Amino acid sequence: MLNIVVLVSGGGTNLGALISAQTDGQLNGGAITAVVSSRPEVYALKRAQDAKIDTYVVPRKQFDSIDSYGDAMLKLMDELKPDLIVQAGFLSILSARFCERYSGKIMNIHPSLLPKYGGKGMYGLHVHRAVLEHGESQTGATVHMVTGEVDGGPIIAQKTVPVMEGDTPEVLQRRVMEQAEHVLLPQAVRDFIAGKI
Ligand code: GRF
Repeated sequence: MLNIVVLVSGGGTNLGALISAQTDGQLNGGAITAVVSSRPEVYALKRAQDAKIDTYVVPRKQFDSIDSYGDAMLKLMDELKPDLIVQAGFLSILSARFCERYSGKIMNIHPSLLPKYGGKGMYGLHVHRAVLEHGESQTGATVHMVTGEVDGGPIIAQKTVPVMEGDTPEVLQRRVMEQAEHVLLPQAVRDFIAGKI
């Protein structure tokens, strides 16, 4: 059974999609055994607790550098022993040391068609605002493996959604989440469990 640890920072809708997939028996061969948040009191933690999944908080604000935060996260991962780490709405950067240690075992969901609208400062609504400002006719989401480079790892899967007339960043974010992210991430985890990645 592959031991899956999910990293979160906010509402946890992507975590919710993974929990639903697990409940529906779509993640057989794997189990979400822990959810780790970079921020306390986020709704993602409640989603995990409701699903009887162990939760941990390693508050990014308590660490003064990417490396010290990465070392604290490594310490916790030594206890949790993940076979797969899924960054699901996780908004902190993991250190090069962390990424090397778990190389090939960390995936991330990003709400754009990378490499467009990725990298520093491109997260949450900022992504969708930039897509609208550039007049794109379509956008979507990307699942990629995590290397040291922000949003730069090998792409696993992408799914496009249309940009509609009159879209606001909030409306577009919801469409990308519901029609792309929440479909792509469970599928990518399923493929990893099946050894296809
Ligand atoms: C989503 O757009 C996700 O792609 C991004 O953060 C947003 C919130 O994700 N990384 P979630 O609802 O916390 O899963």
